[in-house]
Amino acid sequence: METLTGMERTNNCGELRISDVGKEVKLAGWVSRRRDHGGLIFVDMRDRSGLVQVVFDGSTQGLDFTKAETLRNEFVLGVRGKVRARSEDTINPKMATGEVEVLVEELRILNKAKTPPFYIQDGVDVDEMVRLRYRYLDLRRPEMQKNIILRHRVTKIMRDYLDEQGFLEIETPMLCRSTPEGARDFLVPSRLNPGQFYALPQSPQIFKQLLMVSGFEKYFQIVRCFRDEDLRADRQPEFTQLDIETSFLNQDQILTIMEGLVKRIFETTLDVKIETPFLRMSWEEAMRRFGSDKPDLRFGMELQDISEYVKGSDFKVFNSVLEHGGQVKVIRVDDYANIPRRELDGLVEYVKIYGAKGLAWIQYTEEGVKSPFKKFYSDETFEQIKQATGCKTGDLLLVVGDKASVVAQALGELRLEMARRRNLIDADKLCFLWIVDFPMFEYVEEDKRYKAMHHPFTSPREEDIELLLTDPEKVKANAYDIVLNGVEVGGGSLRIYRRDVQEKVFEAIGLTPEEAYAKFGFLMDAFEFGTPPHGGIAFGLDRLIMLMAKRKSIRDVIAFPKTQSAIDPMSHAPSEVDDKQLRELSIRTAVKKK
Ligand code: AMO
Ligand code: AMP
Repeated sequence: METLTGMERTNNCGELRISDVGKEVKLAGWVSRRRDHGGLIFVDMRDRSGLVQVVFDGSTQGLDFTKAETLRNEFVLGVRGKVRARSEDTINPKMATGEVEVLVEELRILNKAKTPPFYIQDGVDVDEMVRLRYRYLDLRRPEMQKNIILRHRVTKIMRDYLDEQGFLEIETPMLCRSTPEGARDFLVPSRLNPGQFYALPQSPQIFKQLLMVSGFEKYFQIVRCFRDEDLRADRQPEFTQLDIETSFLNQDQILTIMEGLVKRIFETTLDVKIETPFLRMSWEEAMRRFGSDKPDLRFGMELQDISEYVKGSDFKVFNSVLEHGGQVKVIRVDDYANIPRRELDGLVEYVKIYGAKGLAWIQYTEEGVKSPFKKFYSDETFEQIKQATGCKTGDLLLVVGDKASVVAQALGELRLEMARRRNLIDADKLCFLWIVDFPMFEYVEEDKRYKAMHHPFTSPREEDIELLLTDPEKVKANAYDIVLNGVEVGGGSLRIYRRDVQEKVFEAIGLTPEEAYAKFGFLMDAFEFGTPPHGGIAFGLDRLIMLMAKRKSIRDVIAFPKTQSAIDPMSHAPSEVDDKQLRELSIRTAVKKK
């Protein structure tokens, strides 16, 4: 193999333009594609900046053409040559460098390459396991490079913007104390303290609050967080937050700073116009209209209540739902009254995933109303429902009756599914909104207790503090989520900063004072040394970049992500470890070694 000495690059492949014609350039990069035309070889040469066509012509003085004939995809080259204009008929308008090419006078083969397991190009249709197994090759593909570069630009803008606003970037520990609440912790055994464990942080929540007690006033950190949860397309066991905390600001002031940040990020990197302030919608309204606390506002198809029209009939299903305090709601699918029966049957199964016991429908067809509950209601009732829901002939209503939470989940998910199937989502739209006025608690049926909907450091509304122990379901929190196109990209709150209120909240979620003090005593102690009113937010960086890059999974915007089963198919983490390592940590596993 040859060396780079004397061939150090002067230009980037993807940046050559017609104005460079006549220049001598030295390029370095990979063979992306080669076409051999006998005495003439064309190579698309690739580096981070993009592609350019380089030409090896057997008749070029001094060029070792036999060497050029050995080139294969992904060989690493250095070339020296002259930029020339391509003839009119060979211009490639799809390439940024399509008007020029480089006639090579000297070639160095810096390294060879085996045939890669997939083509290094955009839009390859390869199993994701293979992509992750050869992640270093996957990341060589231009679309993946673009995502990672976008991520860099966004974090740079975050740092610049927050610095301008007076925020300080401060690091917090990775080896922390395990605390209850939230997701499952990743644990790290302590060799020096046998039988004891650190937890990796699920977020720097408590530390950033303590930094407010310390008087730093405005903090941020781009920080890795760890949660041992079941994974999905938008969840990784380790992910990155832009974590922020401020003192002495009210909710409006915090949201305004964040809107400025989001506006700056999107306008600088995506060439779009972002209108601020963002819509603010209460949690209750979001649940009522969209069946979701992260509604996708790029399309309508809102949930509508038809309980008043269907009550008091002989239809047992709806009667029993309404008698038990439930509701009957619909979504309207325009121009789809002729939905195939097979698809309806599929939708019945679909809503069952989300806890609904069934699904009904009303088809307003040219031939009249079709519905599984047609015989239980008069024509007038179907006409009233048609009017009330804004239906026209040709439209379809999908109906779920159940308790409110089930209706919301089932119809909320069905709304998204139908929008996808009917192609109602404009992929170019960016619909931001804040969800505000969250309930403080949610009831966890299996544990028979309340749990904080955000986290237990979130402050209840001042006027609701007295209800904390008497009527917890009524308590609203000073919490807010930022939602973009149906994805929760961030969430935060104003915090509790008084010990007595914090104690009450712990009590409301079923922690005894002793348990609370054992787990969070250091925070409660701190509250007694002059803690300022404070609040903050954390953005899910991976999710934000995923949406900006228009990808379906956060794995596409993380350099080295884990699979759905939390493994890395490239380095094979996690793995078994030596008995010696375990002994040092005073650990024995209950799993037999393979
Ligand atoms: P929260 O738990 O809502 O708040 O997290 C903030 C944001 O982080 C993102 N996120 C995730 N992204 C990828 N994979 C995951 N497993 C994952 N979990 C969460 C989401 C979410 O909105 N300390 C509080 C913030 C605060 O109150 O200031 C917190 O962590 O986009
Ligand atoms: P059943 O009495 O269970 O056979 O249901 C009669 C009709 O009502 C069927 O078309 C069901 O799909 C529908 N149905 C059943 N449960 C519900 C429900 N929870 N919400 C809406 N429709 C339902």
